[in-house]
Amino acid sequence: MSDISTTLAGIKLVNPFMVASGILDENGYTMKELLERGAAAVVTKSIGISERDGYPTPVIVEYGDSLINAVGLSNPGIENFGEEINIAKEAKRPIIGSVFAYNAEEFTKLSVKMEEYGVDAIELNLSCPHVKGFGLEVGSDPDLVEDIVNEIKSKVKVPVFAKLSPNVSNIIEIAKAAEKADAYVLINTVKAMAIDIYSRSPVLSNLYGGLSGPAIKPVGIRYVYEVKKETGKEIIGVGGISNYKDAIEYIMAGASAVQIGTALYKYGKGIFREMEWQLRTFMDEERFEKIEEMVGVAIKR
Ligand SMILES: Cc1cc2nc3c(=O)[nH]c(=O)nc-3n(C[C@H](O)[C@H](O)[C@H](O)COP(=O)(O)O)c2cc1C
Repeated sequence: MSDISTTLAGIKLVNPFMVASGILDENGYTMKELLERGAAAVVTKSIGISERDGYPTPVIVEYGDSLINAVGLSNPGIENFGEEINIAKEAKRPIIGSVFAYNAEEFTKLSVKMEEYGVDAIELNLSCPHVKGFGLEVGSDPDLVEDIVNEIKSKVKVPVFAKLSPNVSNIIEIAKAAEKADAYVLINTVKAMAIDIYSRSPVLSNLYGGLSGPAIKPVGIRYVYEVKKETGKEIIGVGGISNYKDAIEYIMAGASAVQIGTALYKYGKGIFREMEWQLRTFMDEERFEKIEEMVGVAIKR
């Protein structure tokens, strides 16, 4: 029978399916439940230095099975988050601490604290607004990305994942700036907007939001393929995965593991167990013994 376990930066995963940052992962008990119901690992909601309420409503618009959200990085702040991690760790599966900040110093402070809390890896959310270059994202400034990643790598021992933004003109340049990271996470949400034609104005209080769900899957596949081909580094694929076929597409494009976010709203927490047996059946039928045999097989040299 095929083996659906995989390793990522040396971390053993019982299957390639992880919970993406921001979906049911701000609370220790829901993180624990998702792990007990089949997720191989959970990435926490992105945590910042201090508590934030986020933007006023409306913060989410539906677009078919996809979503546009502008939650505004609402989070309890790092000092209040240790207890949630303690609870999630009871499931005895890897917890990845996601952090966001506006400069290298804050990113490092958050990462060190996450490591103290006992996370198995750090994920850097590089998609928050960049104060200096207002309007741009931290992740669109290669010098800043390089500073952040290098500084954190010199201060923490656990693996560091750089979650890259798709909202840049040259992803390879940004990936290379983050090359000290142990793996890349691709992609975060795609900048988008919706207009209410009766009120004649943007729907979201923040005007713009991030598109997630099936609508962005082809964009995510393209980025994973391109970055894997150019860098050869380990990649975690995320964006629009709703079933095992979507996950296999990402793996064949070059991902060693995948994350699921928006689909959790539509299909609920049972999605992990379902994808597990469907993936195993596919691998048996297609004669893949291990996940690594599928990683990047679609890449044309
Ligand atoms: C409501 C919501 C909140 C999110 N919050 C975060 C976050 O705090 N940090 C982060 O890195 N990504 C966040 N994301 C992005 C997801 O982790 C993921 O990259 C994106 O939604 C694409 O995956 P999906 O199509 O499976 O949802 C959020 C997405 C949604 C829908």
